Amino acid sequence: MNPLQSEIGRLKREKNAVILGHNYQRKEVQEISDFLGDSYGLSVQASNTESDVIVFCGVDFMAESAKILSPRKTVLLPNKKSICPMAAMAEVEPLRALKAKNPGVPVVSYVNTSAAVKGETDICCTSANAVKIVKSLPDKKIIFVPDTNLGLYVKRYVKDKEIILWPGYCPTHVNIRVEDLRSLRQEHPDAEVLVHPECTPEVIDFADFAYSTEGIIRHVVSSPKNEFIIGTETNMIHRLRRDAPGKKFYGVDVATCPNMREITLEDVRDSLLKMQYVIELSDEAIAKAKAPLERMIAAGRQD
Ligand code: 13P
Ligand code: SF4
Repeated sequence: MNPLQSEIGRLKREKNAVILGHNYQRKEVQEISDFLGDSYGLSVQASNTESDVIVFCGVDFMAESAKILSPRKTVLLPNKKSICPMAAMAEVEPLRALKAKNPGVPVVSYVNTSAAVKGETDICCTSANAVKIVKSLPDKKIIFVPDTNLGLYVKRYVKDKEIILWPGYCPTHVNIRVEDLRSLRQEHPDAEVLVHPECTPEVIDFADFAYSTEGIIRHVVSSPKNEFIIGTETNMIHRLRRDAPGKKFYGVDVATCPNMREITLEDVRDSLLKMQYVIELSDEAIAKAKAPLERMIAAGRQD
């Protein structure tokens, strides 16, 4: 353990803090995280933790979700630039206008949304449970916010509902092209191709499987295969190497999320030292955003 890692460990004990890390974090940040996971797993961890402080090594909406689920805890996002551009593509006023055009139609929001948009939402979902959540609703028509590609992925499995899509997308996952995967498969013909459902429909068609980040890890660990082409943020490969040592992974070079990579070990140390940057949400915003997140957690997960 290097001196910076030891300092983080000491500060963490001093402040009674827990460090949650998303699977896309830098390798060294993954190494000092108490829990690693996908958006769903980290939401559950955030709701269960006994610590006074949560340091959220992920993007803004994830830290907000932790605050919404644990309002009495101090939630810290170690770097202010760690924001999700897809979440910023959905805003309250245009969503209200869409709801007004479709009275009584429930809104399913991907967790990659602001607390304010969650406040306009009936139930949240993650990439791990989106299909299950949409299927669980009795309604024949739903509004799905903000990821068009995840919404199109849900449509593959839910044929009996009309799904109104929002024009949002993940800049990292739409960078992954079929040609990238095809040339990797030519180089590694025995490898299985695993992608995230935020990828485009053509990429999902080409892949062997589409899963959330945690779903990809579970698949790799239980698969008899030894080689995998990974169609999601390339930092995932650090987590995969940890959980499936000895297996081989080939990433798509363009699949980097600069926002997820903003957080460094120095930022984590400084966040604990200076108690920065505190996620501040009004009691009203928390109350409105909590119900759709809790409904999602109650509905459980499916990959
Ligand atoms: P997961 O929930 O699959 O970890 O995905 C979160 C995310 O931001 C994907 O881009
Ligand atoms: Fe947002 Fe995409 Fe980055 Fe995930 S990978 S945090 S969806 S920009």
